[in-house]
Amino acid sequence: MQLGRVKPKGESWVNTAGEVIPMKWRDETVGIIGLGYVGLPLAIAFAESGATVIGVDVSQERVQSLKQGRSYLTDVPDEEIASVLGRFHPTTDYSTLRDCDAVIICVPTPLAKTGEPDISYILSAAEDFRPHLRRGMLIVLESTTYPGTTEELLKPMLEETGLKAGVDFNLAFSPERIDPANKQWTLKNTPKIVGGLTPECTMRAKALYERVVEDVYPVSSPKVAEMTKLLENTFRAVNIALVNEFAILCRRMGISVWEVIDAASTKPFGFMRFEPGPGIGGHCIPIDPLYLAWKAREFNHEARFIRIADAINRQMPEYVVSLIADALNDHGKPLRGSRILLLGIAYKPEVNDYRESPGLALVELLQRKGSYVCYHDPYVPEVHHNGWMMKSVELTEDELAKSDCVVIVTAHKFYNWGWVVAHSPLVVDTRGVTRKMNAHNVVRL
Ligand SMILES: NC(=O)c1ccc[n+]([C@@H]2O[C@H](COP(=O)([O-])OP(=O)(O)OC[C@H]3O[C@@H](n4cnc5c(N)ncnc54)[C@H](O)[C@@H]3O)[C@@H](O)[C@H]2O)c1
Repeated sequence: MQLGRVKPKGESWVNTAGEVIPMKWRDETVGIIGLGYVGLPLAIAFAESGATVIGVDVSQERVQSLKQGRSYLTDVPDEEIASVLGRFHPTTDYSTLRDCDAVIICVPTPLAKTGEPDISYILSAAEDFRPHLRRGMLIVLESTTYPGTTEELLKPMLEETGLKAGVDFNLAFSPERIDPANKQWTLKNTPKIVGGLTPECTMRAKALYERVVEDVYPVSSPKVAEMTKLLENTFRAVNIALVNEFAILCRRMGISVWEVIDAASTKPFGFMRFEPGPGIGGHCIPIDPLYLAWKAREFNHEARFIRIADAINRQMPEYVVSLIADALNDHGKPLRGSRILLLGIAYKPEVNDYRESPGLALVELLQRKGSYVCYHDPYVPEVHHNGWMMKSVELTEDELAKSDCVVIVTAHKFYNWGWVVAHSPLVVDTRGVTRKMNAHNVVRL
């Protein structure tokens, strides 16, 4: 197949060789690099669509688990993996990607300790994949990153093979919008953005994703697609910071922020509900806006909204510690030596993901003050972080009763809040789940 500039022509398109390619043209062998929260559901979706899927991950443990039909994600049941194992081939071997028509990169994009983007995972995936790049392939980057990554970083790396992007192979960016534990908006019914290096790259990426997504929305370039994802996540970070600020102010003014939010939410237009909490977590909202803030400096622009939102959100765990200290103080107890039980350590309900979770910051801040801290989370049996490890305790009436303070960190549906409040001497509720209860032992954010 020869690639090149295309002219859309109804339900088909024409490449530079004059070949008419139907729009529903299908890439039959799809490679996915990185089988995490984003890559694994995508791999399963492509396999379910009938494609052969090669899933490459550097983690031998994850690959072994998948080969045995065992999932490591709460959103993906074992049966789903078992049902596609004939077409889904997990491996650590990059060379198996050489027979793929399309390869999608879904590796992590965290922050370095200095707060700057750490794109080393993209670099290493591109480097390991490069020897297996073939003429005619479509390469799509899905990892959230700063605008320009696909064109300024990935393209030159892949072109070191001598093949030219947009001519010998197609290249596009398509941000993932997966929302773990969201049963209403799934990979299938959430519109997907694609932005290719050339119109042909875009159309090919669109055709690829139409196998698994109902609605694919093309944009004019990878940069636009990269920026779109950052607008979406910055929008969330900024609005969460705004309600967090309202929560702090409302408490000072003796107003319930929860009642205010419930009331404002009755407005059918011009208002969107966001809720305060002990901080933000996960691999997206606390991180992605900082990728943009970093890139903005190259253009002599200080992304002020992002910096302020980040500062407010990052300060929330300390604010919650001050609430716990005040609440204990009212019971005649200091933080030092008090037994504090955190309910939930995952960053949001119904997931086992505790990356960047505010619960981790709470453990460290409270321990630094001399408190004895333990946690319970139905989804997270143990936590490994910053060189420490902790196991979830059993949640019993006795465990609640012997705690000096129980802190509601994650509003998992598992919990019966009435039961928690009834058996705990003191509760600090950072999620507003007790707001309808008339209980004297509860302090709310
Ligand atoms: N988790 C989400 O809800 C979400 C939503 C939208 C976008 N994203 C973005 O998607 C990307 C992936 O996030 P995730 O949550 O799936 O991460 P993850 O940590 O769950 O999964 C990443 C996987 O990649 C593997 N990996 C790391 N380096 C590799 C390499 N060089 N080659 C092959 N495999 C490698 C890891 O072992 C891991 O299994 C990130 O850029 C993230 O910002 C995540």
